[in-house]
Amino acid sequence: MRDEVLAWLAPRPGGVYVDATIGAGGHAEAILRRIAPGGRLIGIDRDAEALAIAARRLAPYAASVTLRHANFTAIRQIVAEAGVETVDGIVMDLGASSLQFDAPERGFSFSRPGPLDMRMDRSQPTTAADLINGLPERELANLIHRYGEERFARRIARAIVRRRPIHTTTALADAVSAAIPRRAWPRGLHPATRTFQALRIATNHELDDLERALPDAVGALRGGGRLCVITFHSLEDRILKHTYLRLSRGCTCPPGSPLCTCGGRRWLRVLTRRPLTPSPSEIAANPRARSAKLRVAERLVDPAVHGSRFPDAPEAGQPCADPTLPTVSPDVVSPAPGLRRLTVRTRSGARPREGRRR
Ligand SMILES: C[S@@+](CC[C@H](N)C(=O)[O-])C[C@H]1O[C@@H](n2cnc3c(N)ncnc32)[C@H](O)[C@@H]1O
Repeated sequence: MRDEVLAWLAPRPGGVYVDATIGAGGHAEAILRRIAPGGRLIGIDRDAEALAIAARRLAPYAASVTLRHANFTAIRQIVAEAGVETVDGIVMDLGASSLQFDAPERGFSFSRPGPLDMRMDRSQPTTAADLINGLPERELANLIHRYGEERFARRIARAIVRRRPIHTTTALADAVSAAIPRRAWPRGLHPATRTFQALRIATNHELDDLERALPDAVGALRGGGRLCVITFHSLEDRILKHTYLRLSRGCTCPPGSPLCTCGGRRWLRVLTRRPLTPSPSEIAANPRARSAKLRVAERLVDPAVHGSRFPDAPEAGQPCADPTLPTVSPDVVSPAPGLRRLTVRTRSGARPREGRRR
């Protein structure tokens, strides 16, 4: 969804952007084409091999690129260490990359024989095999149910425990396939798909990391800066949707309250009422993109004007200030496609706000 990301991120020459999941550098290169020279891209990935590939690809822009081998949960510190106050935009293209799926020795794919590894960051100690062979049956079932949304989780966990130790992707795929009744195999999907997803999410703490990183990503944006996040399954998308909602809702104290007790602030304006999905031609060219969803939000409060930079800063005990908070000056970024001015009611009366045309 590179074109969609570029359209919504709207990189401007000379701007500062973060690609928090740089992978092979496809999005980063497209951004650099727009911002260099004079602009700057901070690229993050927890996979050192991906970073090396990105570094080669982005060599023509080396003067404009800072690469960091890190988890994006450290985005706050990484931006600060880069000597940047706030950035103009952030991209997160979640999940595993084709580089990771297609390398048998990384152990991400049930269709490629290899060790059960699945670590995005190979310097982390725990592999998928450690979980498969070390967790009690009940915990394994919970993990597969929770992160794979797999209704046969208990049967699968039982089958795995019976066959332990399991050290290869194919041995695990066989165990899972044997545990699911053939008539219940999902159509068009390998029966081990959900279990492999669950194991990958657990090995890499993907959901916890996303939940932790999103508020810090918002905190790193300048007023008017945009956050573009692509998710690949409903669990990630739910976290993103709820975080956007929470940070865009603002103060929920009853009207007329003298002091804010809820601490809510409108940090964001959500620009995509519904997630954007890939076009049929993109799915035809890259079937892995079929479950991608892009949601975009814009930082509403300018940290230069508003006291606190990060959504985790305590806000309660101040006047219910939402209606008077400074918003972004309209010339900072071009308006998002499909938006027009709407008038909505707030506690202090009517005021214009951006919204999507119904
Ligand atoms: C779908 S790929 C990104 C592809 C990239 N947009 C491109 O154009 O090539 C996702 C990348 O995010 C990285 N990643 C996933 N979770 C991460 C995290 N918590 N911190 C840093 N990188 C992460 C993975 O290692 C992988 O390289």
